[in-house]
Amino acid sequence: MSNRTVVGFSGNITRPSKTRGFVDHVVKSIAARSALSANVFDIEDLGPSLATARWQRDLDSDAADILRAIVDADVLVVGSPTYKGSYTGLFKHFFDLIDPAALRGKPVVLTATGGGDRHSLIVEHQLRPLFGFFEAFVLPTAIYASDRDFIDGTLSSEAIQARTAQAVEEAALLLGARSATAAIAAE
Ligand SMILES: Cc1cc2nc3c(=O)[nH]c(=O)nc-3n(C[C@H](O)[C@H](O)[C@H](O)COP(=O)(O)O)c2cc1C
Repeated sequence: MSNRTVVGFSGNITRPSKTRGFVDHVVKSIAARSALSANVFDIEDLGPSLATARWQRDLDSDAADILRAIVDADVLVVGSPTYKGSYTGLFKHFFDLIDPAALRGKPVVLTATGGGDRHSLIVEHQLRPLFGFFEAFVLPTAIYASDRDFIDGTLSSEAIQARTAQAVEEAALLLGARSATAAIAAE
């Protein structure tokens, strides 16, 4: 098993969750393509200390371990259900606890789900600026899926599958370039 990781984080606040399922699908696709270890978390995994935390040090040890896994990931896949045209409040609150420099240069794949297509630009107008703030290496292909792209909670849309494949290839390209750069630096 590789010690390089792809970690997913989903901002869903209820389960079962289409968003968590979709993030899981993207994470597993990246893990298979680039031979990475995979892990996925959501707001419920963080537990009760998230909502009351004002600073990172207020998180309990389980939540702190998840935050560490996200900060240490070689690739991060984030997703949120669309709530009132944006990501969920607790998704933003979690990232508010992360040091501004902690995600600098990290490859990040943006995803979101929503009830319809009206707010499909959440990935460009809400999520991309947030990870731009962190100076993350946000991949060009961001993926939005609406309710009609799922059957019984499972992704059914060929168009979304194709966009996922595009994001997976972008992640592989970036990881390959970084490995090559590291190998040259080690010579
Ligand atoms: C409080 C609330 C607000 C929502 N606001 C929007 C919205 O503004 N735009 C939209 O397309 N869908 C909206 N939805 C629908 C959800 O984004 C959609 O059903 C999503 O896929 C649910 O993901 P989940 O299964 O991971 O919770 C909203 C749902 C809830 C509960």
